[in-house]
Amino acid sequence: MKTKYFQLLNPVKWIKAYRLKKQDGKYDKSKSDLELNLYSKILKNDMLHYGYFEDPEIATDSISIKSVEDAQIKYAQNIVDLIKDKEGNVLDVGCGMGGLSAILSAQNFKVEALTPNKNQIRHIQNKYKSIPVHNCKFEGIEEIRKYSTVINSESFQYIDLEKGLAKINAITLPNAQWIITDYFRLHDNGINKSSHLLTDFIEAIGNSNWKIVYEKDITPNILPMLRFLRLYVDRFIFPLKNFAFEKFRYKQGFLYYLTQDLREGIDKKINKEVASIDPEKFANEKKYMIFVLEKQ
Ligand SMILES: C[S@@+](CC[C@H](N)C(=O)[O-])C[C@H]1O[C@@H](n2cnc3c(N)ncnc32)[C@H](O)[C@@H]1O
Repeated sequence: MKTKYFQLLNPVKWIKAYRLKKQDGKYDKSKSDLELNLYSKILKNDMLHYGYFEDPEIATDSISIKSVEDAQIKYAQNIVDLIKDKEGNVLDVGCGMGGLSAILSAQNFKVEALTPNKNQIRHIQNKYKSIPVHNCKFEGIEEIRKYSTVINSESFQYIDLEKGLAKINAITLPNAQWIITDYFRLHDNGINKSSHLLTDFIEAIGNSNWKIVYEKDITPNILPMLRFLRLYVDRFIFPLKNFAFEKFRYKQGFLYYLTQDLREGIDKKINKEVASIDPEKFANEKKYMIFVLEKQ
């Protein structure tokens, strides 16, 4: 036992840890988003969005991983069905693991994918070799090609409004379609500040050369996913975490009390993440929308 504690005081270990930390570099969320990496290990159909449940009243404990994956495919197909120009070039912005691009490609659309995330790029290049993929942020894509359709499937929230609008103009043909499916904040008071304020988005579009030609509030159809996640967190993640901490306390009491601040930090982070998937909070603070815009 003593040797374990002495290892913590060993200067060689400190130097090694310092070197490894330096190698890791600064955490850049767009290049290696840990939450998205986690979800991609759980769901195996290469989709990283909330899905579309046909039955918003579905009982939470009857939802299986299979029904989640089916809901995600339905969500993707809803997007595909909105595309007007079946022959033109489509850009799937923030393509995640490539699930939507793969569906588009299987249905003979000329699709290109885009993501700044290293893990996603590697996955797409290995699994979907025929789909061209841009490794950059949307704001940074070269303005070489023009697309007739641009899709943001739950990726618009990551993109700066002003920069996004400037870029979309530069890379689209006249009369192009821009399909955005994402959640928007209804006000500024929520705990989770991810996503744009709906009012900001509507105002920015009103001042642009894009017009909203179709909109649908699908919040009720995505809430089953949040209820499902919440159920798993309450029934597995929290009990497992408490079990691990208790085991730690009994086995390594000294270290347990020494790392109290660290554990409190972990609890704080978990509570923040859990708040973002609280179905009631979501319904009070956000709206999940499908928007189709057309370039004027
Ligand atoms: C929630 S995932 C959605 C993935 C995919 N569209 C889907 O529906 O399964 C968000 C995606 O946006 C990407 N992303 C984050 N910042 C971005 C940016 N500035 N430009 C383009 N994509 C970005 C992430 O890497 C990820 O691929």
